[in-house]
Amino acid sequence: MDTQYSNSETGDAAITSGKNISAWLATLEEPIAYETLQENIDTDILVIGGGIAGLTTAYYLAKEGRKVVLIEDGFVGSGETGRTTAHITCALDDLYMEIEKLFDEKTAQLAANSHTAAIEWIANTVKLNNIDCDFKRVDGYLFLHPTDNKETLDDEYAATKRAGLLTEMHSTIPGIAAEEGQHCIKYPQQAQFHILKYLKGLAKAFTEHEGKIYTKTRAENISTKGATANGFEITAQHIVVATNTPINDWVTIHTKQWPYRTYVIAAKVPKNSLPFALWWDTGDNDSKWVSKPYHYVRLQPLDDDYDLLISGGEDHRTGQADTEGINEEDRYDRLITWTKKRFPMVNDIAYKWSGQVMEPVDALAYIGKNPGDENVYIITGDSGNGMTHGTLGGLIIKDIITGKENPWIEIYSPSRISIKATGSYLKEVGNMTAQYADWFKDGDVKNIHDLKPGEGGIVSHGFKKIAAYCDEENMLHTCTAVCPHLGAILQWNAEEKTFDCPMHGSRFTTEGVVMNGPAITDLKKILIVEEEKVMVNTKEKDYYI
Ligand SMILES: Cc1cc2nc3c(=O)[nH]c(=O)nc-3n(C[C@H](O)[C@H](O)[C@H](O)COP(=O)(O)OP(=O)(O)OC[C@H]3O[C@@H](n4cnc5c(N)ncnc54)[C@H](O)[C@@H]3O)c2cc1C
Ligand code: FES
Repeated sequence: MDTQYSNSETGDAAITSGKNISAWLATLEEPIAYETLQENIDTDILVIGGGIAGLTTAYYLAKEGRKVVLIEDGFVGSGETGRTTAHITCALDDLYMEIEKLFDEKTAQLAANSHTAAIEWIANTVKLNNIDCDFKRVDGYLFLHPTDNKETLDDEYAATKRAGLLTEMHSTIPGIAAEEGQHCIKYPQQAQFHILKYLKGLAKAFTEHEGKIYTKTRAENISTKGATANGFEITAQHIVVATNTPINDWVTIHTKQWPYRTYVIAAKVPKNSLPFALWWDTGDNDSKWVSKPYHYVRLQPLDDDYDLLISGGEDHRTGQADTEGINEEDRYDRLITWTKKRFPMVNDIAYKWSGQVMEPVDALAYIGKNPGDENVYIITGDSGNGMTHGTLGGLIIKDIITGKENPWIEIYSPSRISIKATGSYLKEVGNMTAQYADWFKDGDVKNIHDLKPGEGGIVSHGFKKIAAYCDEENMLHTCTAVCPHLGAILQWNAEEKTFDCPMHGSRFTTEGVVMNGPAITDLKKILIVEEEKVMVNTKEKDYYI
């Protein structure tokens, strides 16, 4: 399967948000496609985004008898959901002891209870709709990263108990001989699935409840009345923006969450050489990032002879891989080394890909009414727990819209204020502000003509910054490197071949088409006419800058 990027003008759409193809996409027969919107429509509920958050919300509301339309820019699962590793767990990557510190014991209990309910909801939905998606109940094991102290495990174990989870402390870690002598916390009855097979089944179930899906249909002009898409109007009573990061809000939420890039490898391992389980370490305490990178590993059935071992980690703030002196390619090498040490049966790497996660300032996703709006809802900030957070998005928003009580509305409210997160907040805001210094730095490519086929980068031209890419036919594609959201300078992502914004995570194809918000417009094209002159190419005319 080859990657195409989204392009609103040509009608092409993305099957995934980067060049590398995930194991899920590679093992799916074809993209999950529906018809494209070709008329004005009116509906009760408009859901924007066909990832796990949008589709769960759409399905659940349709199941309740509501008239629901879901529109998706690419195909179902072509966003970060198609690039996940699909651990379905109540073990939160920000740890329960942190939630207790940031909020209180009661909030940690509600969080534990909500993620456990999300796992149950997925299990029941798979069963109810007979979704063939390799859903499996597995146990999860949390163990110490070498930079961490034993107290972290003890404290987290105590916090999970206070939160009401049925965790156990064990003195060995099943499946990982190299961690001999290490304790771990066992989280029983977690789960895993093939995410795109799940979405395919959920989409089918949604349409069986009279739901409508339009793919290759890009929402614009989102308001309290609806949105436009592909030049048509969609009017709705309720609008759910499930675009991973909101594209209806310019600032508020984007100062409460930060984009991180995370890396995955998948390797064939002989069948029965490992137990099916989820494994996580507690994260690198020496890391410079606020959200400490941790490793996450699981097994996925592949064929009669092999399973796939899927291992992730090596995260960094989006667009800032090089600030630790470790570029994107080296991060895969580090991940492979780490994985082989713990799982020596790993040999050939079958797939590798990366994706983006939104890390909230206070560990909990933002789900509910968009601040200031009565009928516009958002689901975002789901960090490395997007399978359950995305599912909770559906559970909570369904209850808000249908007027039912829900115990989790308050803790996930996008309008909440977390005073105790100030230290992390200031550090991330400092990082954000520091990105404006890129305006005064040279680009990473000295001369645009140095770019070889398949290479891209940022070129300085006086005070101007150009996002340049040389395609496989040796043609140069040039756009402004200034992010249309709030003006940060984009960075070249050599692994996924995209231009990524280090500020709030907007991402663009090699041709400048926006693939991730909060930016909502494409990059302006720049045409190089001769060595010393640069032109902006608009739809109407070309002119010098
Ligand atoms: C490498 C990686 C590993 C992960 N591992 C796990 C894990 O093991 N467990 C876990 O729980 N979570 C994990 N996560 C997190 C989880 O995958 C995500 O949080 C989750 O998939 C996000 O789902 P979503 O529906 O919010 O967003 P998305 O899947 O990104 O869906 C948003 C959709 O909106 C569409 N869209 C955007 N703009 C528009 C527009 N203008 N009009 C129409 N459509 C639009 C996009 O095309 C996209 O399909 C991982 C993430 C990554 C990247
Ligand atoms: S995403 Fe906000 S400035 Fe680029």
